[in-house]
Amino acid sequence: MDVSVSNGLEGVIAADTVLSHVDGNDGTIWVRGHTIDDLVRNHGFEGTVAILWEGFAGAGLTRGQIQSEFAAGRQKAFARLDDWVGLAAKRPLLEGVRIALAALPEDARPAEIAATLPVAVAALVRMRAGQAAVQPDDSLSAAADFLRMMRGEEAAAKEARALDTYFTTVCENGLGNSSFTARVTVSTQASLVSAVVSAYCAFTGPLHGGAPGPVLDMLDAIEAAGDIEGWLAAQLVAGTRLMGFGHRVFRIRDPRAEVLRAAVASLEPDAGRLAFAREVETKALAALHKHKPGRSLKTNIEMNAALLLEALGVPRDAFTQVFAAARCAGWLANAIEQQKTGRMIRPASNYVGPRPAD
Ligand code: ACO
Repeated sequence: MDVSVSNGLEGVIAADTVLSHVDGNDGTIWVRGHTIDDLVRNHGFEGTVAILWEGFAGAGLTRGQIQSEFAAGRQKAFARLDDWVGLAAKRPLLEGVRIALAALPEDARPAEIAATLPVAVAALVRMRAGQAAVQPDDSLSAAADFLRMMRGEEAAAKEARALDTYFTTVCENGLGNSSFTARVTVSTQASLVSAVVSAYCAFTGPLHGGAPGPVLDMLDAIEAAGDIEGWLAAQLVAGTRLMGFGHRVFRIRDPRAEVLRAAVASLEPDAGRLAFAREVETKALAALHKHKPGRSLKTNIEMNAALLLEALGVPRDAFTQVFAAARCAGWLANAIEQQKTGRMIRPASNYVGPRPAD
């Protein structure tokens, strides 16, 4: 029997959604009818979550309401630290955050789940440096409070704004691998906590949310080699992927890259670092064009995300977890939308193994 198999499921439409529209040819993202620019300028992270979760995790949601739900969720997460931190603090951050999410009670509410991430990441970053975890501050936004809990002192307003822009920009992006994972999990009537744990696990891979740290490793390696073009060509000839380039959907332009570029510039980070990153970006695009002709491989968000998080003093091995702190809002919205369909996700495979002798 002739069957056509799509191993990466590209082009397969697996859900109707009102959450976000992503057009890779246009370089467009709308979150419930809002552009990323509008969300960043007029709504901020909590306002965007209110828009995203409306009708899914509450009704008549406002920015202020989400801010207080997140603040209460952070307090709850802080009160629960002792449940899991003894084990998690001894492990790499990726594992520590997975432990924190897995320790959530099965019936945890969406805001409580989402608010666990910034508390867990900040506490684990401090504890491995021998510092005590810092209690959340209810009066602050998620971005401002994350920086405060991580550093032990309040961040400058422009820093909190830059992180808020990052959170807003990356919190929802269509049926990404991790959001799909959340849908698959919840479609069996498993809990939202299980959906988020599985989404987080899928997210940590370097082809998805695990890319921003390796982008900086790449910049460091190129700087040490002292030959940008030579280093890039050697990687591509060896078949290695360049971190921060290419996207399954955004083939022409990733609209988030420009928004984040402006946010990085607002922090006035080390100008030498920025100029070097730009030079690498330009040369990498030329090298990809030469070595992968016919493929449209453009800059994705990770280069600017990495520069932004570095300028904010976030440790490199926490980049993925900070990204997850924002994207968790999207995982939850997708999971709840899937719950509403009541339909279990169960595709089929094409058997290509041996047949019984008879
Ligand atoms: N560097 C070098 N080659 C690449 C890259 C890259 N960054 N991205 C894709 N390619 C190559 C592939 O090897 C393939 O080449 P081939 O056909 O000669 O074997 C060709 O381009 C086509 O690749 P696709 O199959 O179209 O790419 P796919 O959709 O599977 O992958 C992905 C998208 C995973 C993001 C890929 O571009 C990649 O690995 N990028 C680097 C990692 C990265 O930056 N990840 C973060 C993505 S953003 C996010 O998830 C938040």
